Amino acid sequence: MTDKLFRLDGKVALVTGASRGLGKAMALALARAGADIAVNSRTAAALAEVVSEIKALGRKVIAVPGDVSDESAAQKIADAVCKQLGRIDILLNNAGVWEGSYLVRLKKEDWDHVLQVNLTGTFLLSKAVGKVMLKQKSGKIISMASILGFKPSPQTLAYSATKAAVIQMTRIMALELGPAGIQVNAIAPGFFFTDMTKRYSENEEAIKAYEAKSPSRRCGQPEDLEGIVVFLSSKASDHITGQTIAIDGGESLA
Ligand SMILES: NC(=O)c1ccc[n+]([C@@H]2O[C@H](COP(=O)([O-])OP(=O)(O)OC[C@H]3O[C@@H](n4cnc5c(N)ncnc54)[C@H](OP(=O)(O)O)[C@@H]3O)[C@@H](O)[C@H]2O)c1
Repeated sequence: MTDKLFRLDGKVALVTGASRGLGKAMALALARAGADIAVNSRTAAALAEVVSEIKALGRKVIAVPGDVSDESAAQKIADAVCKQLGRIDILLNNAGVWEGSYLVRLKKEDWDHVLQVNLTGTFLLSKAVGKVMLKQKSGKIISMASILGFKPSPQTLAYSATKAAVIQMTRIMALELGPAGIQVNAIAPGFFFTDMTKRYSENEEAIKAYEAKSPSRRCGQPEDLEGIVVFLSSKASDHITGQTIAIDGGESLA
């Protein structure tokens, strides 16, 4: 019984930004839990590896390349998943980009780019897939926030603003979609080792200082997100909505 609560057999999940990093790890976790998967990022070639890894697990998998911040591309991604896999039960809004400048050095084009991908992308995919889920009268929308959406930190203005907005969007979408049986939640990771954080993870001193401060005494690895993404996609979380859950080894407490 408990096992079944967490199984995703027969479900279809769309994961944006799934070519590498946290998105790839979470797409594989959803596939291992039984879901068929549609993987997205901007370039088809970058998706080949995750597609073959999911195939090897015995699940159906399709690549739906496209820029999530482009309205017609977002609609085409959702349409392609419905056409090829029949439905969408889980949307994981994971595609995201980083920007780390001081206010007075932050360029308008960089501000715009971060907002377009992290915020507008989350809005456009949630809108396109939300319509599908409303017809189905069920679904799970999960978005990637960050503990920087709670906790102010210098040189993160554009990025943190988008993540704070994702947290509030999550609550509002939960209010609007809840009566139709759709749960909307967000995951707020702390510092994880991926391409996005490479420029910081190469600084050994900074990592040591971070680890010494965090209650878990370590940074996150993509596998640390597997449990939460399966939980928020499964029946086990059917009475949880509008929440943002920090997966940070206690970093946000320190
Ligand atoms: N790593 C961390 O410490 C950390 C902490 C908190 C939150 N997060 C969040 O977790 C998510 C994943 O981060 P990550 O560290 O795994 O980053 P990553 O390694 O840089 O991967 C980002 C993914 O997003 C895709 N992407 C970027 N722009 C896109 C667009 N316009 N349309 C579609 N796909 C796009 C990338 O593929 P292409 O470039 O090929 O399109 C890639 O697959 C992000 O939302 C990030 O903000 C990460």
